[in-house]
Order: sequence, then C-alpha cells, then structure tokens
Amino acid sequence: MKQLIAANWKMYKTVAEAKSVACELTDLVPDLPENAEVAVFPPFTALAAVAEAFKGRAGFTLGAQDVYPAGEGAFTGEISPLMLLDAGCAYVLCGHSERRHVLGESDEFVGKKVAFSLEQGLAVVLCVGETLPQREAGDLSGVLRRQLESGLAGVPAGLEANRIVIAYEPVWAIGTGKVAGVAEIEQAHAIIRSYLEEFCPAIGRDVRILYGGSVKENNAGEIKRLVNVNGLLVGGASLQAGSFAQIIEA
Ligand code: PGA
Repeated sequence: MKQLIAANWKMYKTVAEAKSVACELTDLVPDLPENAEVAVFPPFTALAAVAEAFKGRAGFTLGAQDVYPAGEGAFTGEISPLMLLDAGCAYVLCGHSERRHVLGESDEFVGKKVAFSLEQGLAVVLCVGETLPQREAGDLSGVLRRQLESGLAGVPAGLEANRIVIAYEPVWAIGTGKVAGVAEIEQAHAIIRSYLEEFCPAIGRDVRILYGGSVKENNAGEIKRLVNVNGLLVGGASLQAGSFAQIIEA
C-alpha cells in the first residue's frame, strides 16, 4: 500500500500563488519516493490551476476540501462530487475538524458526504479526531468510534480499500505546533484500525490511516514510520513547496 502524503491548503492561496507552489513542488520532487502518492487539496478556485500543474506527473493527485451530498440542485454555495470529478479531483476531504467545529457539521452529515462521494466515484479522506476536553475526559476511543461508525455507515459493499482513507487529526494538535507524541499516535491509530476492521471487515486491514496535526519537516519521517501510519495530512507546512517537498521525501 502506498503512503498518501496530503496537503490541505485550507483557505489560503490565490490562483497565481497555487500555480506557483504546485509547479515549484513538481520541480523540487522530480521523482516521488516509490512508496508515496501525493495529493494536494487547494481551495476550489485553484483546482484547475493545480490540475494543470500536475498534468503528466504520475503520483501527484488533486483533491477538494469539501463536498455536498447531492448530484445538483438548489444548494447555494455548495459543490457536487460530479463537479469535483469534472475539475480533475480524485479525492475529497470529509469531516475535517474545522468543518465539524467551526461550521458545525454533524457526524451524520459527514457520513452522508462520504457515502455519496464514494457512490459518485471520488476517493474519500474521512477526518476524525478528539478535542482536548474529550481526551482529558478519557473519551478518545468513544469519539473515534462515534465518528467512524457514522462516517463509514454508507460505505458500499465491495469498495476497494484504496477508495477510503482515514485521517487521524487530534483537534488540539491542528495548527497549534503541538504534535501528538509517538505513543499517542500509535494508540489512536491502533484504535482506528480495530474500528475499521469492525465496520468495514472486508477492507479494514488495508485502509490507509494518515496522521495530521502540526506535521513539519523535522517530525514527518519519524511519524511516517510508526505502526499503522500510512501517510500524513499536512496543513501549515504544506503551504510552501520547500517544506512540503522535504516532508514528502522524509
Ligand atoms: P496543521 O493542519 O498541519 O497546520 O496542523 C493539519 C490539518 O488541519 O489538516
């Protein structure tokens, strides 16, 4: 299974900036490590520019940061899986903590996005993770169970394992500079693996689990090599081509 090294650009970058970073990245990484695949999730307005920059570059893929679970219709401001596929996306993020906690998305709504995106042909990166109060209350396992059970409820039978990816992102580690410790990451990933095997028995063993939350050039290599870590989801350190290239090659 290839490691997925993903860049979440959040609400950063104009079209020109996105194009320049994507081109710089492909220049800096002429050959991807054999076991790695890269996915960049720019804002919607920059999808076309990044798609253009990645043209002909095997292993560099495009993703969107969000989606609405309907084919088309009167949903002002939203975007459908078909539109994302049309723009060149292979992946979509569902349930990022900023959407859950800033925009108020429920576990059930995230599950609808996952199911509909899979049905329409996108691969999904489902983000899960606990807040600091939830961790301090000893609720890590309960939170992960709830988010995964709802998030994976509509996964169709017969789905290939590489069409769904889980990103474990402890909310207290996102954008804070506080990376989770090695033991904390291994513990959470082991819990996620066991729920994957419970909720998706046919593919649970082979679904990739990414770690995200303050990943930088200096900790990426160590985290990548932990048991049950199959890639990284990088925010801040993916905004510059130089640091993201180092993370890819770490
Ligand atoms: P960060 O963000 O790397 O800046 O902590 C990760 C994410 O939100 O996906």
